[in-house]
Amino acid sequence: MLSKNLASEINTQIKLELYSAYLYLSMAAYFESENLPGFASWMKKQAGEEQEHALKFFEYLNDRGDKVVLQAIEQPPSTFKSPLAVFEQALEHEKSVTARINLLYGIAVKDNDYASQTFLNWFVTEQVEEEKNATQIVEWLKMAGDSANALFQINGMLAGR
Ligand SMILES: [Fe+2]
Ligand SMILES: [Fe+2]
Repeated sequence: MLSKNLASEINTQIKLELYSAYLYLSMAAYFESENLPGFASWMKKQAGEEQEHALKFFEYLNDRGDKVVLQAIEQPPSTFKSPLAVFEQALEHEKSVTARINLLYGIAVKDNDYASQTFLNWFVTEQVEEEKNATQIVEWLKMAGDSANALFQINGMLAGR
């Protein structure tokens, strides 16, 4: 069993990962409505990965003999200003997730819970990748500026993810 504190925070993390999936699905819906299917496809894949993250935490609580208690998932925003604004928001969101993973890790360290630290290492590495990917697309969109041509090129690249 995990400490009460860590078990409780991991239960919350399951909700937050599902919220991430919900947020990215909402961003996918925005891109679909803007006729940018490559961006939408990227966001749908991202949403799928976030569901996998939630399941990893779900399985981990079960493996350690703790009970999963699912919480209500917040409604994500449904209107966005521009593709750049979407990816800036996605990057900020990933930074907040990184802070959450660090918080969980800190509790595992304080608990001398080595199994949880090993489990969380995967998420520490994953967050580096998540922030890197979002940052790169933010930078591409800044370079594209008002060019529809450049936007379509990025759309094509993201379709291939
Ligand atoms: Fe995640
Ligand atoms: Fe993520």
